[in-house]
Amino acid sequence: MNGAQSAGRVIVLLGSPGVGKGTQGIRLSGAMGWAHVSTGDLLRAALKAGTALGLEARKFMDAGELVPDEVMVDLVREHLAAMGSDRGVVFDGFPRTVPQAEALGAVLAEEGRQVDQVVLLEADAEVLVRRISGRRSSPSGRVYNVHFDPPRRPGFCDDTGEPLIHRADDQPETVRTRLSVYREATAPLVGYYDARGVLVRVDGEGDIGEVQAALREAVGVARGATATGA
Ligand code: AP5
Ligand code: MG
Repeated sequence: MNGAQSAGRVIVLLGSPGVGKGTQGIRLSGAMGWAHVSTGDLLRAALKAGTALGLEARKFMDAGELVPDEVMVDLVREHLAAMGSDRGVVFDGFPRTVPQAEALGAVLAEEGRQVDQVVLLEADAEVLVRRISGRRSSPSGRVYNVHFDPPRRPGFCDDTGEPLIHRADDQPETVRTRLSVYREATAPLVGYYDARGVLVRVDGEGDIGEVQAALREAVGVARGATATGA
């Protein structure tokens, strides 16, 4: 399958904080020429720009709590409208509640689309905590790990040269809150999408290349396929 045949596909990456949604989302979308829509990245960009949305979101993010559904749905609706419907999309971190999933379904239906596949990335809690503690993030959205995926030049993004940051919500106390918020508010989406026949499970515990290969297989994208089909 190549990028042209896949245009317009909608894939959702679901899974706990630290499981690898960003790592895999950026790789899959980059290879296929699809958009990568990470609501966490959109919120962090708004925060950095000092917009009203960023200021409102900050208190929730710093506490590890979810930003209210209506704020998130408006943000995603605007983002999708600006993008056009002919391009594939990989969602990362959205939807995160059943009301968000229902709203996403309605927004996509207006464009004649639907969520085609939901990939649940799975890993044990101790793996998640180890990954989050070693994470360093680039303002570009790319993520690194001091143990598992270090940048070529320590402390700086390979792509943009920007200094890497340690996310404010990666402190142990906040991580514990985020994990429990995931279990309570987001895990019900597993049943929601399973009941609709679009859920696939992918083992997220292998190394980054192994998970990428399993993800590609799960969504029907051949190993080595690219946007141009080259
Ligand atoms: P968000 O930014 O979405 O954070 P999250 O869901 O907590 O997920 P993470 O970004 O922590 O983990 P990830 O799965 O992307 O893992 P990563 O690839 O970085 O949300 C942040 C906050 O924004 C929320 O708490 C909330 O306040 C708000 N928000 C966002 N969306 C919202 C929504 N829809 N509704 C309401 N509020 C919302 O990987 C982690 C680390 O592991 C990295 O260092 C990486 O290099 C490494 N790694 C990845 N894969 C592997 C591997 N296979 N082997 C070894 N290391 C690996
Ligand atoms: Mg992420």
